[in-house]
Amino acid sequence: MPQVLIVSNRLPVSVTKESGKLSFSASLGGVATGLASYLEDGNNLWLGWPGIANDILDDAERAEITAELAKRNCIPVFLSQQEVDDFYSGFSNSILWPTLHSMKVKAPAEAVRKQWWRTYQQVNKRFAEEITNNAANAGTVWVHDYHFMLLPELLKDYLPNNQIGYFLHTPFPPHKTFKKLLHGKQLLKGILGADVIGLQTKLDAAQFSEAVEHYGFGTVEDGILQLSHRMVQITDFPISIDYEKFASAHELPAVQQAVREFRKKYKGLKIITGVDRLDITKGFVERLEAYREFLRRNPRQRGKVVFALVGAPSRGDLAAYKQLSQKVSKLVEEINQTYGKRNWAPVDYNDKGLPFESVAGLFQIADVAFVTPLRDGMNLVAKEFIASKKRSGVLILSSTAGAAAELSDALLVDANKQESLVAALEKSLSMRKTDIVRRFKGMRKQISGHTIHDWSKEFMKALNQPLPMPTRLLGVNAHKKIVTAYQTAERRALFLDYDGVIGELVARPEMAKPTKARLGLLRRLSADPKNDVFIVSGRDLQTLDEWFGNDFSFGAEHGAFRRAKGKTKWEHRLGDATTWKRALKPLLAQYASQTPSAHVEEKSTALVWHYRESPPYSAQKNLVLLKKVLKPLLKDFGLKAYDGKKILEIKPKDMNKGTVIKDALKAKDYDFILTAGDDYTDEAMFNAVPDWAISVKVGSGITDARYRTPNPSTFVAFLEKLRD
Ligand code: G6P
Repeated sequence: MPQVLIVSNRLPVSVTKESGKLSFSASLGGVATGLASYLEDGNNLWLGWPGIANDILDDAERAEITAELAKRNCIPVFLSQQEVDDFYSGFSNSILWPTLHSMKVKAPAEAVRKQWWRTYQQVNKRFAEEITNNAANAGTVWVHDYHFMLLPELLKDYLPNNQIGYFLHTPFPPHKTFKKLLHGKQLLKGILGADVIGLQTKLDAAQFSEAVEHYGFGTVEDGILQLSHRMVQITDFPISIDYEKFASAHELPAVQQAVREFRKKYKGLKIITGVDRLDITKGFVERLEAYREFLRRNPRQRGKVVFALVGAPSRGDLAAYKQLSQKVSKLVEEINQTYGKRNWAPVDYNDKGLPFESVAGLFQIADVAFVTPLRDGMNLVAKEFIASKKRSGVLILSSTAGAAAELSDALLVDANKQESLVAALEKSLSMRKTDIVRRFKGMRKQISGHTIHDWSKEFMKALNQPLPMPTRLLGVNAHKKIVTAYQTAERRALFLDYDGVIGELVARPEMAKPTKARLGLLRRLSADPKNDVFIVSGRDLQTLDEWFGNDFSFGAEHGAFRRAKGKTKWEHRLGDATTWKRALKPLLAQYASQTPSAHVEEKSTALVWHYRESPPYSAQKNLVLLKKVLKPLLKDFGLKAYDGKKILEIKPKDMNKGTVIKDALKAKDYDFILTAGDDYTDEAMFNAVPDWAISVKVGSGITDARYRTPNPSTFVAFLEKLRD
């Protein structure tokens, strides 16, 4: 098996030093568990920071750490206190972490910001070097999380024969948020060095792709980004938990002991619980305030419930986390003072954290898990709660946690709206048992069917399936060869798509009229008696007439209509479209009205659902739904739906641009054939020409064309050369 090398900021073993003595403890985290099986193979390695600043270690201690970690196939990358401050606390956790969670960033002074960024770059470079020193040739490197956004690109450079994977554990925000990062483009370019980029949810993948497109790295189609020299896969891989470990925890004596202790402590009370790292994203304050409001509104519940809240210390050196910790403690105190009685404290707050056995015990007896982060990549606590319970329980979960996409049976809430949180608390305590059980079973089924082991296997599988090589660029050498073939030919056919090939892509289709210069070029090509120039477009007849006159041969509306050069009458190749259009149009309109900026275009033989300017999430969601409802209708009417660039085009099945070419090739024996297109509908043209023909894909995306050129301007420049 080729080597697997894992990279994350934290190693699965953390090192602490107390009273001059080092101690090593295995991490309880889900990722460590999910990847543990890879570490059993002595060939595989895990690189990361041991969690302790270099400054307080001497040479002997460093050697001890290195030796101890080597036993577990881990390699430490030591960071100085300065690096911990600037790289970890600074750039990673004070800028990236809040931005990725769509939270406010407290801007540091300019000089500090620059220093953080410099160190972030340096540490990424250091890791790249350490990895290169330890990686076997042609193995796999799997990089984790926001601490290492620049690493994949560096690794692609240093280790060209290795497969590079990158997984982001946090959410990926909408572009309007991400672009606030001064170095957003550089960070994204860094990540794009990976062969496979994993995100938590479909929404994160869509928003990541949106940023990729905004910064001009290319178009992501079906989760694939085609760069000039390689392909990148961008997919959601929702992370999960070690299901078996939690589901069987109740059998452990230590867990049974914890259950007994909690039962005694919370005797007679309904238990609402929350267990999180004390993090600014987890909604601690909002939860406590909502609970306080719940007690205010529901006097009868006082003395009958307890909120068992655990805030495990985290990132305590950061000012924002210190403030959070103080605020939470103050709120707990205030609630307990306002509503507490002699024998009852409404909140039982633990600010030290709990070992696994106690958490599993607490989950076992809790009635409700109150898990409402403001924003969360996944949120594993929600899944752990469901997996731990022997019988059933209620989960209150933020809709902005990644887990909400899978756990639709939870009581989903808006963590920023107190009203929503209070209502969910009230509901959770008054739900019918049958409803609780039904929802619980749904969630349990979902979680047991997709564990942390499935997650790591699926990611590795994607990483080990190399993507096809991209189509060759239409560079200088190809230009020369094609020009020679053109010059020596006598009967030349040029099949050209218009939009995105000759004309630039614009927001509204009616604005794409050809410029004088480009129209002039086409006319000169068409005036050559050796040439037959076909405009093969999805456009309707009127538009083509208006823009091009009759100086060319045409295939209009994806080949439904034909007209030869010099003629004025269009020939209809297919039957009447009125009936099926009447049936489908209201449906398309309905989904367009539910999607901001989407609209329906009607052509004589096709209907098109446009979503170029729509927010990606709502567009994707409605597109999926629309396709689903369309499916039986398409079958009945003999239609097909084509995914174009931000469009869904519906038309008769056997109507495509390839038929224009096939008919033309039957009529005449050409000795030079050029075809060019930019989207999915043009693939039919690329597939209709013989192998020796010149097919050119304009722009990014997977294609069967022989050559690729970046945009309409570069393609037009190439056509100019032919004419010269
Ligand atoms: C989140 C991040 C991880 C991080 C963990 C603990 O889950 O995605 O990368 O390791 O929090 O945070 P810490 O700063 O203590 O490593």
